[in-house]
Amino acid sequence: MKLWSGRFSKETDEAVNDFNSSIHFDSRMFSEDIKGSIAHASMLGAVGIIDTAEAEKIVACLEVLLEDIKAGTVQFSSSAEDIHMNVETLLTQRLGETGKRLHTARSRNDQVALDFRMYTKNSIISIRTDIARFVDVLADLAEEHLHTIMPGYTHLQRAQPITLGHHLCAWSCMLLRDISRLSDCLKRMDEMPLGSGALAGTTFPIDRDAVRKDLGFARLTQNSLDAVADRDFAVELLSCLSLHMAHLSRMSEEIILWTTAEFGFAELDDAYSTGSSIMPQKKNPDVAELVRGKTGRVYGDLTALLTVIKGLPLAYNKDLQEDKEALFDAVDTVKLCLSVMPNMIKTLTFKPAVMRDAASKGFLNATDLADYLVRKSMPFREAYTVSGKLVRLCIETGYTLETLPLEVYQLHCELFTKDVYEAISLETCVNERKSIGGPSPERVLEQIAYIRREKTLLENIY
Ligand code: ARG
Repeated sequence: MKLWSGRFSKETDEAVNDFNSSIHFDSRMFSEDIKGSIAHASMLGAVGIIDTAEAEKIVACLEVLLEDIKAGTVQFSSSAEDIHMNVETLLTQRLGETGKRLHTARSRNDQVALDFRMYTKNSIISIRTDIARFVDVLADLAEEHLHTIMPGYTHLQRAQPITLGHHLCAWSCMLLRDISRLSDCLKRMDEMPLGSGALAGTTFPIDRDAVRKDLGFARLTQNSLDAVADRDFAVELLSCLSLHMAHLSRMSEEIILWTTAEFGFAELDDAYSTGSSIMPQKKNPDVAELVRGKTGRVYGDLTALLTVIKGLPLAYNKDLQEDKEALFDAVDTVKLCLSVMPNMIKTLTFKPAVMRDAASKGFLNATDLADYLVRKSMPFREAYTVSGKLVRLCIETGYTLETLPLEVYQLHCELFTKDVYEAISLETCVNERKSIGGPSPERVLEQIAYIRREKTLLENIY
């Protein structure tokens, strides 16, 4: 029999029962639900809304129930609809009449708002830690590659020389922002909604602040109507996760490119790549491709929830039950990606010689050639033109800027002397780019220090 069957004269249709039931996905919030109920029951006892001895019995029984569920000895029932009613039903089965007192001064509307916030909060903290571990991997790798010269690209055309260390620091900065965004989200959402009742609070003299403290929330929600209707925190987490997936996807795309025969900058470890069922020579970057692909589903989860809430009048509507699968899927997907991506990158074999060779072709030092003339007092626009003409000459004659004879240089501009070769060597191009944030090894070392410092700061907010 349903907990709410009192005013009904018929049983719920079987199909409606299944349609309505959320236990097959919200059972994962059993721990949040029971901890919330323990805090609620303790408060009810402490302020005298229910008898202290009965409150203690409820708490003790819920504690055992929590352990039993963890041990896998408890069966949930779809006729009890959701995790909240399953827990209450199980409690009452075990405790009899006393169990029926738990739901005093509470509604499933504020209960689900609480459970879902607790779940969201735990997910933020856990994903933030995963990303921080990823940053550790990238920072260590960057330190190993301070001097590994590679081409930097714009429009996917070779542009200027950088180092692999510099590139890996760029990835780390993207991830640092993700950690920072998650921490912002955590700060804003850290409010305890229980005590909002169905929508209009309660006539019982509850102590919301005691429950808040018990459950470790920073603040109380301030309006009961808003508290039961609000899913902004879930939308915010989904937004953070979407942007994080965009970053993982961009990294994946680069790994896919780098491991092609055409680039050849890196080779995937056998343990992090897969073969083809027909082409024996193939070594495919499936992990990176799947991360790129799964990005779409996380965006879908965000779009789903935004769409669910857009037309909802205050306060609670059953539409809100659709919030959970979207968030759970995004959390699972992100955690799954973060369980493989750091090691896939850590186990890549980079090919410094190939990267350097790529950086030495394509006139990546043409800007440096112009800068050389600027240092000899030529205005940049003019120097740019001279450098451009020399690049064209090289293309026509098969020279590189490094091999073009000094006489030819001097034919184009008398400011050239033999120090030009030193000025445009790849090492000079990289080592002299000492502007803050640039690729010179000492600047990259600073970036690595910054990344490690920021990461520690951000991951420890809360
Ligand atoms: N399973 C419901 C959900 O996820 C719990 C709240 C139900 N409240 C109600 N009044 N039907 O949203």
